[in-house]
Amino acid sequence: MASAPRMATASPAVRSLSEFSSEVVGGLSHPGQKELPSKYLYDAVGSALFDVICLLPEYGLSRAGMRMLERYSGEIIGRVPGPVMVAELGSGSGQQTRWLLEALARRQRVNYYPIDISGSALFRCQQELGQIDMVSIVGFERAYLDGLQEVAARRREGERLLVLFLGSTIGNFDRPAGDQFLREVRSILREGDALLLTTDLEKPVPTLILAYDDPAGVTAAFNKNLLARINRELGGDFDLANFEHVVRWDETERRIEMHLRSKVWQRVTIRKAGFRFYLREGETIWTESSHKYNPREVVQMGECSGYRCAGQWFDSEWPLAQNLFFAV
Ligand SMILES: C[S@@+](CC[C@H](N)C(=O)[O-])C[C@H]1O[C@@H](n2cnc3c(N)ncnc32)[C@H](O)[C@@H]1O
Repeated sequence: MASAPRMATASPAVRSLSEFSSEVVGGLSHPGQKELPSKYLYDAVGSALFDVICLLPEYGLSRAGMRMLERYSGEIIGRVPGPVMVAELGSGSGQQTRWLLEALARRQRVNYYPIDISGSALFRCQQELGQIDMVSIVGFERAYLDGLQEVAARRREGERLLVLFLGSTIGNFDRPAGDQFLREVRSILREGDALLLTTDLEKPVPTLILAYDDPAGVTAAFNKNLLARINRELGGDFDLANFEHVVRWDETERRIEMHLRSKVWQRVTIRKAGFRFYLREGETIWTESSHKYNPREVVQMGECSGYRCAGQWFDSEWPLAQNLFFAV
């Protein structure tokens, strides 16, 4: 029987408001390129907009992930033996995870721990997955590694931990930071624990640009909502009409970058942070990166971070890889 969805209760809300404020000020005071951390794209509005992005025909990544897990979950789970508990980093609303949980629940009762900094995404996740037979959910409104540490502490004797990091969210880290992140995850795991990592693969640039700059403007709204969030939560006075959503492909770094370009010279005040800054006409604020990979480098990323690769699965319509690693 599915148990009633529960949320971890110790909400770090107060601390996170001051963290939000100091990271915003840090990023906007950056010499040269101004930037804002992409994790702040996901408040309640941003998480809802992201779910809409996943429905867009241009954003093939999400549908490919879903298609692959529908097709290969049995095979993937079959390679992870024994009693298994599941943690998911950045679960979002958990739509792709259903297939994996159902495959595992055919063999055992499942404790599933989604970890996400967005409380509203977790709520949606619990609605989406809370009714699967044999699966109980406890959500953690935490940053990835804090949440994973708490989840790992719940491990029962003889249980293996399967960590999911889906949706190519790893691509938000630049490559050295991605390697470092995988190492930090590994330091929380035990030998034999598993990591299922989704990585979006390189594809024609026009396809990628369209995926992050859809004609309906949903991704633009998702991006601009970051400024709206600063207005709402930190007393900012960003005028959203003075910004445009810009998407670029960086050939050297092999990544999509999302920026917000100032259409005019402007002064912005963020009252609760006691901070004022200026933007030149044409200057941008960099809000997100999505790195793209080739299959071989993903294996290497895992191998240099303390894992061995136990399988890779590919989608033929939208080049994407599901990569299964074991901690060694
Ligand atoms: C690109 S979405 C992917 C969602 C889902 N895994 C999917 O594939 O559709 C990234 C998710 O990670 C969460 N997230 C971003 N940064 C985070 C962090 N530092 N700690 C925990 N969650 C984070 C966001 O709130 C969001 O739900």
